[in-house]
Amino acid sequence: MCGIIGIASNKSVSTNIINSLKKLEYRGYDSAGLATIYNNEINEKKCSGRVEELEKILFKNPTDGNLGIGHVRWATHGVPNIINAHPHSSDVVSVVHNGIIENSNELKKELESKGLNFKSQTDTEVITILITEALKKMTPLNAVFQTLQKLKGSFALGIIFKSHRDIIIGARRGSPLAVGYSKEENYLGSDSYALKSMTNKISYLDDGDLCILSKDKVEFYDFEQKKINKKVYILSDDKNTAEKGDYKNFMAKEIFEQPTTIKTCVNEYVDNLKKDINIYNFPIEPKKINKIVLVGCGTAYHSCIVAKYWFEEITSLDVEIDIASEFRYRKVKFNINNLYIFVSQSGETADTAAALELCKKNNVKTCSIVNSVESTIARNSDWVLPIHAGPEIGVASTKAFLGQLVVLYILSLKLGKTRNDINQTTYSTSITNLEKLPDSLKECLKTENRIQVMAKEFLDAKGSMFLGRGLSFPIALEGALKLKELSYLHAEGYPAGEMKHGPLALIEEGLPVIVIAPKDKYFEKTISNMQEVIARGGKILFITDHKKELINENIRFGIRVPTIDKLLTPILLTIPIQLLAYHVALLKNCDIDKPRNLAKSVTVE
Ligand code: G6P
Repeated sequence: MCGIIGIASNKSVSTNIINSLKKLEYRGYDSAGLATIYNNEINEKKCSGRVEELEKILFKNPTDGNLGIGHVRWATHGVPNIINAHPHSSDVVSVVHNGIIENSNELKKELESKGLNFKSQTDTEVITILITEALKKMTPLNAVFQTLQKLKGSFALGIIFKSHRDIIIGARRGSPLAVGYSKEENYLGSDSYALKSMTNKISYLDDGDLCILSKDKVEFYDFEQKKINKKVYILSDDKNTAEKGDYKNFMAKEIFEQPTTIKTCVNEYVDNLKKDINIYNFPIEPKKINKIVLVGCGTAYHSCIVAKYWFEEITSLDVEIDIASEFRYRKVKFNINNLYIFVSQSGETADTAAALELCKKNNVKTCSIVNSVESTIARNSDWVLPIHAGPEIGVASTKAFLGQLVVLYILSLKLGKTRNDINQTTYSTSITNLEKLPDSLKECLKTENRIQVMAKEFLDAKGSMFLGRGLSFPIALEGALKLKELSYLHAEGYPAGEMKHGPLALIEEGLPVIVIAPKDKYFEKTISNMQEVIARGGKILFITDHKKELINENIRFGIRVPTIDKLLTPILLTIPIQLLAYHVALLKNCDIDKPRNLAKSVTVE
């Protein structure tokens, strides 16, 4: 998963390419590069590492040209060095690619047997060589069409040609690609977010589509090489900006804006006068829904687990959850009366998008819960429920997780009420409780000072364990994921009751164990599991909403969140685990917004 950009203009494009690449860095930051056509030559500049580095190179040695492409990489084939950085150019063509060419080894062998040489270890370079060879006999458009027919796998491509210095060709199979329109300038980009500062007029390529753009014209073709027209979308203005203001980094900003984003989200869905939820037009009549199937990846999958508990508690529905990369290859028994819900912050995650596609092929109804309403997943689903969190830039998801939870909770209430699984009183009380969430979240954020001290307990730790039962179990998973992502410290999330079946063997003197135990029906049981850990030397860090002072010399640290409706408590318990991961990472001097080896939007399998 990488980010690509292309600009055809009547003025120099390198500054705007750099600015767009900075926006695309959430897709990868292993290397960056650009190529422009200037003085009838392909000018290529690349670096390993961040766009900042590329900017420094350009500052010392500027690149002109009114047409160009750029790339940020998340390495798949070949180490993240300058040779493997994109663009991959020959004397006549330059290519940027997002995706994976699955038959690159076969194609490479075939081309090498013809005496053609490769410089990099990437799968992308086969595209450069194939197009270079084809250009000896045909036009750029035909050379690209011919090359695409030989490729297996997924791609979004941006291609420029030495001999045709006014055109960029874009092509899509699997990986997302958008086109933006402006006066005397047209753009190609991995998503609308990268283009938003330059235009609000966007079209999206579908699988198999190809486009040719010049500064004043864009043409689209389908996979049969027939000319097609594309719908033009006008992007909405984002009220939430993607600036970090006075915060040290985006993650801090995103954690601290959660009371506001949740308030916006609740206000979007709740009619507080009528005490009702504004969700209509279900793709299946609620009483006829047989089962809910929830699918996501990473943090979004954790929201699906929380939602399973909610749907089972609030509705009479049967619920199944799955990780998208598993779902898409399982022999799923599709049922037209099931509602398939896809949860994704970016709406571009390749596995989630493919799982959704599989549902569409099987003619079942789909719903997406997304942050980016202009995304592939949102556009491809029958029904979209946005989370209204505003742009999330930090790679580790925080405010999007809470937004997903709130929308899933709201949906479970609406379904429960419409199906007569809950009565009016429970429904209205639940809505009133929901409205208290933003203030309770503000209270939770006040735990930061204590958590800062608690974070020091992790500095010499070899690993850590997060435990919870019931609704706190997925929060334990999310706590472990956040700590791993941000601080590179090994962490396991486990259902507390399952410890004795293996993980207890990991407990040794001083191992930090975070026990998440609100005062719910599991409380006493979790405390018993905690005693088993204490008996083996584990260092307990306790997170609860229990009102009583926890006097226990075996608990090293206690964090308390406000008391709220039991079903909403996991939302509050999330704040301390986010802050904990954040402060451990800060103490360890980690790159908080861009953890090593990761990317925000995972557009490859
Ligand atoms: C990446 C991100 C995670 C995110 C996951 C799913 O791994 O680093 O934070 O949870 O993708 O992303 P999505 O955009 O589908 O929610």
